[in-house]
Amino acid sequence: MDFVSALETKINLQELENCIEQAVTEDKFIQEICTPLISGGKRLRPLLFLACSCANKNFSPDKKMPLATALELIHMASLVHDDILDNAQKRRGVETINSMHGSQIAVLVGDYLFAKAFQLVAENNYGSEVSAVLAKLIRNLCIGEIMQDRSFFVIPTLEEYYTRINLKTAFFLSTCCRLGGIIANLDKAEIENLAAYGNNLGLAFQIIDDLLDFFGEEKLTGKAVGGDLKSGVVTLPIIRALEISNRAETLKNIIAQKKITCSDVNLAIEIIRETDAIEYCRTRAEAHIALAKNNLPVTIDATINNSLNPIADFVINRNR
Ligand code: FPP
Ligand code: MG
Repeated sequence: MDFVSALETKINLQELENCIEQAVTEDKFIQEICTPLISGGKRLRPLLFLACSCANKNFSPDKKMPLATALELIHMASLVHDDILDNAQKRRGVETINSMHGSQIAVLVGDYLFAKAFQLVAENNYGSEVSAVLAKLIRNLCIGEIMQDRSFFVIPTLEEYYTRINLKTAFFLSTCCRLGGIIANLDKAEIENLAAYGNNLGLAFQIIDDLLDFFGEEKLTGKAVGGDLKSGVVTLPIIRALEISNRAETLKNIIAQKKITCSDVNLAIEIIRETDAIEYCRTRAEAHIALAKNNLPVTIDATINNSLNPIADFVINRNR
């Protein structure tokens, strides 16, 4: 992973891993349940935050790590709850908490991670601006998920699709960059530019995620192929295929029947492949990556952009 080597010189990545691990070790039950989930994450959110926070060299790493850890914990909490909603069986290559321990326990584990994140924030005196930004993030995550839940097996317009991916993914990456800028004491315009970078990065990230859901390798993504479609989430490859495929009716019927089997997923993949949907999604994702790079503020230390550019390249080229 190239972006990791770009960050290694500025950020103690092992320290981040230690902090994340430490956050779930207070309770033996939580530790046992969460340890398999901890490994295998890309750490994109804390790394974005840390990369942006490096714009201020005087800011001590001790002050950054708790918030970086909190961002990863909030992400983990949201995944634990998301897997309940999606009835997902696999996450990061291992069995999901809901599959292994049931949904009741999974709700509580998600809540625990969420509470632990806010404990770290409160104990490290980040101030009311940081708390308000985090609260808005969680609200948006929830609204994005509610929106998704209410439109299971419904074909969204392009606009509805973008609203959803903005709320559930792009806003999070944008928030990580914003918080990095706030912590580094950058000026308003620079913070907004970093946030815009994060937003476009997030849109590209989710479009690639939606492609990987159909065309990724299970061993690399750690998730079952076709999981979105099976749980009723209609994403960009389908939206595009429905627009131009001469087998659009078949695809519509698969979605309408609501009980989607593995052979339905394979048929959907075949129909998507017959169209230009893969290329269409990639072109859109690439456009967001280009916008993200254009948004990088030229006024901040060039070495920050030297870390953020490889992150953008990773997002478009990733296979996991
Ligand atoms: C994964 O999406 C899930 C999210 C991006 C957000 C989930 C948010 C919530 C459940 C709201 C509650 C939040 C907290 C902090 C408790 P996906 O299903 O497209 O991705 P996947 O394929 O990795 O599952
Ligand atoms: Mg999911």
